[in-house]
Amino acid sequence: MSIKLNNGIEMPIVGFGLWKVNNDTCADQVYNAIKAGYRLFDGAVMRYGLLDYGQLRSLTCIDYGNEVESGQGIARAIKEGLVKREDLFIVSKLWNSFHEKHQVEKIARKQLKDWGIDYFDLYIIHFPLAIAYVDPSVRYPPGWEDTNGKITEINAPISDTWAAFEELVEKGLAKSIGVSNFHGQLLTDLTRYAKIIPQTLQIEHHPYLSQPTLIKLAQNKGIAVTAYSSFGPQSFLELDMKEAQGAEPLLQHPLIKKIADKHSKTPAQVLLRWATQRNIAVIPKSNNPERLAQNLDVLSWNLDQSEIEEIGGLNKNLRFNDPVNYGLDIYMYTG
Ligand SMILES: NC(=O)c1ccc[n+]([C@@H]2O[C@H](COP(=O)([O-])OP(=O)(O)OC[C@H]3O[C@@H](n4cnc5c(N)ncnc54)[C@H](OP(=O)(O)O)[C@@H]3O)[C@@H](O)[C@H]2O)c1
Repeated sequence: MSIKLNNGIEMPIVGFGLWKVNNDTCADQVYNAIKAGYRLFDGAVMRYGLLDYGQLRSLTCIDYGNEVESGQGIARAIKEGLVKREDLFIVSKLWNSFHEKHQVEKIARKQLKDWGIDYFDLYIIHFPLAIAYVDPSVRYPPGWEDTNGKITEINAPISDTWAAFEELVEKGLAKSIGVSNFHGQLLTDLTRYAKIIPQTLQIEHHPYLSQPTLIKLAQNKGIAVTAYSSFGPQSFLELDMKEAQGAEPLLQHPLIKKIADKHSKTPAQVLLRWATQRNIAVIPKSNNPERLAQNLDVLSWNLDQSEIEEIGGLNKNLRFNDPVNYGLDIYMYTG
């Protein structure tokens, strides 16, 4: 099953997320995910490594930084005849340090080379944040700090970055383009000058952060929504994030468990179906073959409308993927 994007291209509604998929297992995981039936892969380039900003909190964070390995898994699957390139929907993202107009194509080409492909099905602005450029020969995969070990914001407006994205489409380097972690005002502003209206908006979306009006705004403008971190705090426990440790686990929430039991499904499947049934794409990540298969089975059965609403009632505007929660002095979600 897929979502028809505003350019007519079909995007699979369930994909495989590549954040925190380790480099040594990534190629096999991508290959096995293709075998299990996944066709969309959601990648990115950045890597945090160990963050330690003096007074700020340290956080060990294993990251994406696995585009080469993801490409190897795909190449193997194509070589063995499991799929053709055109059966796959490969997504990657522009990191914050490459927002300047003249940097976009260069880095997109490097990322494509790493994947071993000649176009992205979807290329996304990862965050509406522009930070100082660090040459890939100095550090790659990129991170937050500049060469002085500081995070320096720069004046690269989204309008410039978006114009460069539109050129990627003209040159055939990306079939579709989108944004991530944008709020409503920024998205609305972008649609005022864009020659190409974004095909997708990727946001944190789970019952503790359901963002119904942002989703409505995007869908009303013909922008498809992709949910990340569908299991709420689960993904952030691996990072020892205190906000996740303090939250009631969604996968064990009594309401989610009750609904899962009623449908003979798992809590994870209920959380994913809660999104897909409202035409929101999901990109769960799992390092476990059984869970990987389970996460694909979220289309052939339905929640009752009352259950969808009950789950929506758990909203408490609790965001985990906020730079502030990583100990960074960056305030992108201020009101
Ligand atoms: N645009 C952005 O800024 C952004 C930010 C975050 C994420 N993303 C994208 O969204 C993808 C998904 O988000 P995410 O990685 O944060 O988290 P997620 O998919 O919500 O959660 C992953 C966690 O859930 C566990 N899990 C997976 N399937 C499960 C199941 N069926 N039952 C129980 N536990 C399960 C995984 O453990 P196991 O691996 O052990 O199964 C892992 O701990 C990412 O990989 C990335 O591609 C984008």
